[in-house]
Amino acid sequence: MSSQADPAKVMKQQVGKAAADRVQSGTIVGLGTGSTTAFAIQFIGERLQSGQLKEIKGIPTSFQASVLAKQYGIPLTTLDEVDGIDVAIDGADEVDPNKNLIKGGGAAHTREKIVDALAKQFIVVVDESKLVDRLGESFLLPVEVLPMAMTPVMRAIETLGGKPELRMGVKKAGPVVTDEGNLVIDVKFDGIDNPEELEKTLNNIPGVLENGLFVGVADVVLIGEIKDGNPGVREM
Ligand code: 5RP
Repeated sequence: MSSQADPAKVMKQQVGKAAADRVQSGTIVGLGTGSTTAFAIQFIGERLQSGQLKEIKGIPTSFQASVLAKQYGIPLTTLDEVDGIDVAIDGADEVDPNKNLIKGGGAAHTREKIVDALAKQFIVVVDESKLVDRLGESFLLPVEVLPMAMTPVMRAIETLGGKPELRMGVKKAGPVVTDEGNLVIDVKFDGIDNPEELEKTLNNIPGVLENGLFVGVADVVLIGEIKDGNPGVREM
């Protein structure tokens, strides 16, 4: 690794490339959202341009993913046009030892869960900073909510012991608005003991579209790391 390289960026690049290398010709590929997946999309595009990879189609999980796919020459399709998804590649904000995840740092978790859960194989790409013993001790859990239901959903979340806060925009006055036109409530839980139950309980609150707990969805977790100054990738 060069002495000037940003270690976090190098880990993301390495793991993005490792995931892109697993994509096979003639497949439908779910394209995740975030800075790590962006490298995977770039490397998939480069493999297509070099002729190493042929006839793949991407299903984007966000506006960001579709813009990147177009930039790197990956043809896109929709869930209406295909029978299924062969592989999805997506990042995560936290990963626990059971491969359960918190996602939604980029406010794309609703579409991400649809695509990632449909994939025959869902490959998670993270750097080692995302590994945790217990979900939700530091990262706030994102919940996408219909705008008219914001206040009752926040109250319901408080009765579950969570501390909700509306996600606000950066360089934009007012709240973050998702690609679907909804709001995101970030919830502090101080550690989540039963992610499977909480995922269902939150999605049962009227007005909640989807929350960022991905339980039992990930098949493979690839981890970018730097050991003794050398970047590498290991599989969980
Ligand atoms: C977007 C996500 C991202 O995959 C997650 O936030 C990780 O992003 P990054 O690779 O930039 O750390 O869930 O909704």
